[in-house]
Amino acid sequence: MPQWLNNSVFYQVYPQSFCDSNGDGIGDIQGLISKLDYIKELGCNAIWLNPVYDSTFMDAGYDVRDYYKIAPRYGTNDDAKMLFEEVHKRDMKLLMDLVPGHTSDTNGWFTQSKQPLKNELSNRYIWTDSVWEAPPQYRLQCGITDRDGNYLVNYFSSQPALNYGFYEVTHPNWQLPVNHPDCLRTVEAVKDVMRFWLDMGCDGFRVDMADSLVKNDDDKIATAAIWAGIREMMDKDYPECALVSEWCHPIRAINKGGFHADFYLDHRGNGYSTAFRFYNYETKEQESYFSKEGKGDIMTLVSELNENYPATKDNGYISFFTCNHDNPRMSAWYDELELKINFCTIFTLPGVPFLYYGDEIGMRYMSELTSKEGGFSRTGSRTPMQWNSGKNKGFSTADPDKLYLPVDMSENAPDVESQMKDENSLYQTVKNIIKIRKENPDLCGNGDFEILFAEKNTYPFIFRRGSFVIAVNPSANDAFAPFGYEMKEKVYSIGETVVSNGTIKLKGQSYCLMKI
Ligand code: NOJ
Repeated sequence: MPQWLNNSVFYQVYPQSFCDSNGDGIGDIQGLISKLDYIKELGCNAIWLNPVYDSTFMDAGYDVRDYYKIAPRYGTNDDAKMLFEEVHKRDMKLLMDLVPGHTSDTNGWFTQSKQPLKNELSNRYIWTDSVWEAPPQYRLQCGITDRDGNYLVNYFSSQPALNYGFYEVTHPNWQLPVNHPDCLRTVEAVKDVMRFWLDMGCDGFRVDMADSLVKNDDDKIATAAIWAGIREMMDKDYPECALVSEWCHPIRAINKGGFHADFYLDHRGNGYSTAFRFYNYETKEQESYFSKEGKGDIMTLVSELNENYPATKDNGYISFFTCNHDNPRMSAWYDELELKINFCTIFTLPGVPFLYYGDEIGMRYMSELTSKEGGFSRTGSRTPMQWNSGKNKGFSTADPDKLYLPVDMSENAPDVESQMKDENSLYQTVKNIIKIRKENPDLCGNGDFEILFAEKNTYPFIFRRGSFVIAVNPSANDAFAPFGYEMKEKVYSIGETVVSNGTIKLKGQSYCLMKI
């Protein structure tokens, strides 16, 4: 287990939109290098970088054309090497994005696989054995290649699924078992890709759709077994490198698959969603627990954490995030005070937290934008970083109509430079809470976690992290709870919290991190 994870706070960089160093309107690796000091000063000591591989960009780079080459728009492989070195000089770490479930349909492997004559990559993807064979339960692309067969899609139509076999083989004429030599070769091919970047200096991977490898594998037994094998390689050859899964099932991902951390994703109705992202599309009301409306319920989060945290604590981390490139930014429905309270809570929960670029200044979710590179409703969370009040908010020197996506030019659009100068800004809150977290092992990844007060449809929510207690009342109404501790020191707070006579009282919209 890489020890550095325990004390890490990640910053997610969407490379297209972070910093453009050469004035072509799109972010690049040299731009990111120029902002590493900024990320470090904010307190983040690790980076997750969205895909930077050569791509056709039908899905913003999750459609990889060449796993071994940096997309020219971001720079060269030498730039990537320099990035790893610059990150390490600053005592930071960087995870690349690994996309093992599918490639672009322009990837060289696919070009070879779709040839009508049998060749050594014919089984690199999942093909039926005739173009007339198209069972409706599978998402197949039919009749668009010269090969006599249809191929399975993993996400968008441009993303054919790599072949790791079927756990339950229901159509033996075209489905291979997981131990078929060609399926084992797919695993080896992905390991080769990993070694290539790890040897160059990257510190591990965030793994895209990690649960999607083996098909007809409902309980993910065979998929987890593949990852467990990859973890063996990591332990042996790259023990300081980390694997973080996009899976949202910590018991499977961490305990069975050997991932070091697993994202707690926004799956509608789950604990993370009901706590932070629960907008009722029917009633058009905000029902998140962490909304000032005060209509939420914390119990789904509590029961999921109670089940998953102790079960996985000794093996890996659950990762909370402020947002990512697939979700609307929380600023879409929360105001600045709500964001401060929510982010302080996220950064004092256990696990390894992730901050999405621009969330530290409350960048807007630009819902009015049309889709870019397969972003669709996600596009509004992928706009250029707002560094200052200058041209294109400091993102690029290009003409505004040449930018990857428009910069938010609305009145009061936040920027880094102004928030750095304002001691009451969201930026300062985020920076302060990250600093406190990193200075106190009790608040880090695997520190103790115990829920002290949580009741159905009730505020506040109180939990203990070792010698600290965090009490939070996101609702606009005052809230009370029985409290059997003495507040020895108020370490960080928003709003007003008072402890007396065995009761804690939190004013509406308060957060308190205290020593007990
Ligand atoms: C999850 C990624 O986060 C998302 O952006 C992408 O579109 C899909 N996986 C497909 O790779």
